[in-house]
Amino acid sequence: MSLKNQVAFITGAAHGQGRATAIALAKEGIHIAAFDVAKPLAYPGYKLGSTDDLVSLKAEVEKLGVNILTFQGDVRTDADVKKAVSETIAQFKRIDILFNNAGICAYGLAHELTEDAWDSMIDINLKGAWLTARHIIPHMIAQKSGNIINNSSIAGLRGMNRLSHYAASKWGLTGLTKSWAIELAPHNIRVNSIHPTGVNTPMNDGLAALEGKTTEEIAVASAGNLLPVPWIESEDVAHAVLYLVSDKARFVTGSQFVIDAGLLTR
Ligand SMILES: NC(=O)c1ccc[n+]([C@@H]2O[C@H](COP(=O)([O-])OP(=O)(O)OC[C@H]3O[C@@H](n4cnc5c(N)ncnc54)[C@H](O)[C@@H]3O)[C@@H](O)[C@H]2O)c1
Repeated sequence: MSLKNQVAFITGAAHGQGRATAIALAKEGIHIAAFDVAKPLAYPGYKLGSTDDLVSLKAEVEKLGVNILTFQGDVRTDADVKKAVSETIAQFKRIDILFNNAGICAYGLAHELTEDAWDSMIDINLKGAWLTARHIIPHMIAQKSGNIINNSSIAGLRGMNRLSHYAASKWGLTGLTKSWAIELAPHNIRVNSIHPTGVNTPMNDGLAALEGKTTEEIAVASAGNLLPVPWIESEDVAHAVLYLVSDKARFVTGSQFVIDAGLLTR
């Protein structure tokens, strides 16, 4: 099945990995529905995407000759997600790809986390993915095809210091991926998770600012890449998504695709 004229719904699309993936998919002729909270949130407290980012993404994608819809909404708010999905279906008639990418990160020892920090982390990173998928899966079942990619992390396959709530949310995505792959395989819908090491995005700049460190220090502290790079780029993630949604990966489902510069090897 050609990627041209497929439709991708991408959460957290305003900047970082979501934006890079929207552009990479648009270059293949895929129409884009870009969903983002596009405003600051008290937690995690660093700079998230903005409405300006969504406007510039729209212009960039349209230049590539495909259509794009942008939505400002929170993945935790069912009504926001429901409205965006129904407007996407009204406009494009189908959704072939869901990239559950919206997410936050923040440090804190488990016994020092507030309940609000715990709830925000789990609700955005994990519940948001489910809320989004549950509105899109029925359309994919009706189409008898689809691809869902959940953006987990290396933290979805290992433990991480001062990131237990983040790791819990990302291991949760691994569990959703495997379970949805079982539920949806009979409908010809593939479900995979990706597990990047540190990525050079505004998230790491934001974490560095919160921690009073440089982005390089944040990368070194959390990483341990085998290959001699402090981090990977958003485009590396976009290329992995592109492979997974393509027919080249037609029998890949339920997998945990690592893009980790070798980090998880030891
Ligand atoms: N940056 C890394 O080192 C890294 C590594 C592995 C996995 N990840 C994961 O990749 C995904 C993308 O991260 P990124 O590095 O591009 O981060 P980022 O902060 O640069 O971008 C995240 C985007 O998600 C949006 N977003 C945040 N909360 C939202 C909400 N409640 N509803 C809708 N949109 C929301 C933000 O506005 C932003 O545009 C996240 O799930 C993250 O956990 C990041």
